[in-house]
Amino acid sequence: MATILALETSCDETSAAVVRDRTVLSNIVASQIELHQRFGGVVPELASRQHVISLGPVLEAALSQSQISWADIDAVAATCAPGLVGALLVGVSAGKTLAMVHQKPFIGVHHLEGHLYAAYLTQPELQPPFLCLLVSGGHTSLVLVRRCGDYQILGQTRDDAAGEAFDKVARLLGLGYPGGPVIDRLAQQGNPSAFSLPEGNISLPEGGYHPYDTSFSGLKTAVLRLVERLQAAGALPTADLAASFQATVARVLTKRAIACALDHQVPTLVVGGGVAANSGLRSHLTVAAAEQGITVLFPPLAYCTDNAAMIACAAAEHFEHGHRSPLTLGSQSRLPVTAAMDLYH
Ligand code: KG4
Ligand code: ZN
Repeated sequence: MATILALETSCDETSAAVVRDRTVLSNIVASQIELHQRFGGVVPELASRQHVISLGPVLEAALSQSQISWADIDAVAATCAPGLVGALLVGVSAGKTLAMVHQKPFIGVHHLEGHLYAAYLTQPELQPPFLCLLVSGGHTSLVLVRRCGDYQILGQTRDDAAGEAFDKVARLLGLGYPGGPVIDRLAQQGNPSAFSLPEGNISLPEGGYHPYDTSFSGLKTAVLRLVERLQAAGALPTADLAASFQATVARVLTKRAIACALDHQVPTLVVGGGVAANSGLRSHLTVAAAEQGITVLFPPLAYCTDNAAMIACAAAEHFEHGHRSPLTLGSQSRLPVTAAMDLYH
């Protein structure tokens, strides 16, 4: 299989990795969290500027740690959509330049395909079809992976993404950015049954609820009202609120993912994206999947949040299928994963 050098700069992590045969030879991630923390979220212009500063050293470290030479690299890949356009441009421009200078094919990668395939890095024998519960800061969907480039969205959020809900609720509780890891830690000390919160069901015109779609904005608003009420009454029980919120998100995602896997008779459920790192989701889903005879695969924490190893992994799939991107490829802030094949000749 191919050896790929990949770059990831879609949001606030600058990353470069070398992956061969679904084995990670190096994966360097420079996080910008500290830079954005005082603003309570990612500032796009600052992110782009920091990628320009960080990418050189990150790339050098990834190449030297992999202990391979340019002659061993089959293709250069970079995330080109979706994400912050200015941030993406840094990686895409660098990737195309490296490909030109070293006369290698260039492979633009859809960021969500990286999350879909992150599980390959620790489960190299995994093959489609499988269902992926994709839960990141910008996306929440249930994607049926039929084969490389052939995806069907079976369920999704109608508003906020799961990670976005974690970030917004953390802000409401005064916990800072990014919210997911802080809520996860705090939730360990709280009671998950302390507060009953809405599960964001989507009503259907013909009656009943959509089996896989969800809404997280109602849940976020419910936490806001609760916080206002509790604050007026005295001190805020933040650990109980964090635990109750996390348990609700875990329950909602678990219910939808299990129902979808059973209905579509897909025995393997892969979880990807930053929220796949969440301990509540990991334990809920593991128990429910075992009860239903579904195999559930979580990438290790380092491959859940943004990293270039998962981008290299997705690029390797495309490389094997003969897909190549033109050197005129730009970056796009939005692109559905079902249109990922638009990135190739
Ligand atoms: O996949 P990712 O690194 O970036 C995007 O592509 O969006 O996901 C980032 C999101 C953030 O919203 C962050 O709060 C959330 O993943 N996250 C978590 C955890 N770690 C990161 N959410 C819940 N629990 C965690 N442990
Ligand atoms: Zn991501």
